[in-house]
Amino acid sequence: MGDRAGTHGDVIAVAASVGGLGRFRPPRGRTPRSISHTRGEAVIASRDDTLAHTLAHLAHVEQYAQEDDPLTSARETGRRAESSPISAAGGAALRFLAAAIGARSVVEVGTGCGTSGIWLLRGMRPDSVLTSVDIEPEYQELARAAYRRAGFAANRVRLIHGRGLDVLPRLTDAAYDMVFVDAEPAAYPTYLDEALRLLRVGGIVVFNNALEGAERADGPLSVPDPGTAGAREAGRLVRADTALIPLLLPVGEGLLAAIRDHSPES
Ligand SMILES: C[S@@+](CC[C@H](N)C(=O)[O-])C[C@H]1O[C@@H](n2cnc3c(N)ncnc32)[C@H](O)[C@@H]1O
Repeated sequence: MGDRAGTHGDVIAVAASVGGLGRFRPPRGRTPRSISHTRGEAVIASRDDTLAHTLAHLAHVEQYAQEDDPLTSARETGRRAESSPISAAGGAALRFLAAAIGARSVVEVGTGCGTSGIWLLRGMRPDSVLTSVDIEPEYQELARAAYRRAGFAANRVRLIHGRGLDVLPRLTDAAYDMVFVDAEPAAYPTYLDEALRLLRVGGIVVFNNALEGAERADGPLSVPDPGTAGAREAGRLVRADTALIPLLLPVGEGLLAAIRDHSPES
């Protein structure tokens, strides 16, 4: 494949591998350049090379986060139910963050069929509780079964049926170590306010689908859809808030994370 790297075909093959995972081997070394390339061809080929390398790296990151039977099964259920489970690397990042802060109390908006919940629970302390909110009770029943299959006792998870922005205001201030939002990107800025109220100092807020907010080549005059606008605004607000330590991770659909560093007034 190395001698063909840089063609459109390779870029498509690499892109397919990001979704399919497992069959792709990234090209080794740089593609030899023919001196007969016109300048324009060379620019396009080199851009394709860069894209192919980037996609190969992202595919490798997803493959590195291996999933076992309970996660594979939750993901398959989610895929069939069209609940858009988080990517494996995204899940691994959630587990890593929860473990890094010794999370005992985590809120999730967007239970889905349980993939992200299993990853979170695996990073949280053994005596911890995951509170997970979703508007679809059928998804939550499938998630409950997935948690059980992954070996978690029923009292480790509190499932709340409802809209995130109706439920979060009822939860206790500064009582949570982590808030993960994986629903309603248009409302991410409002979820950010709620998350900052719920988090203790040193707690972490994480938004999925953060790359929805990426600037696209759609021109300055085009109007972004509400989800894109919400994700973009949340990214801006997180970076502008001096009481937060921000991080944008290009895993899956993108995770925007921020540590609540101190109270705004301190
Ligand atoms: C992307 S899926 C979540 C996937 C899940 N985190 C996982 O990894 O399996 C989004 C979920 O949010 C739920 N949802 C959509 N809008 C919501 C809202 N306003 N409040 C709570 N849940 C919502 C959907 O029913 C869906 O299950």
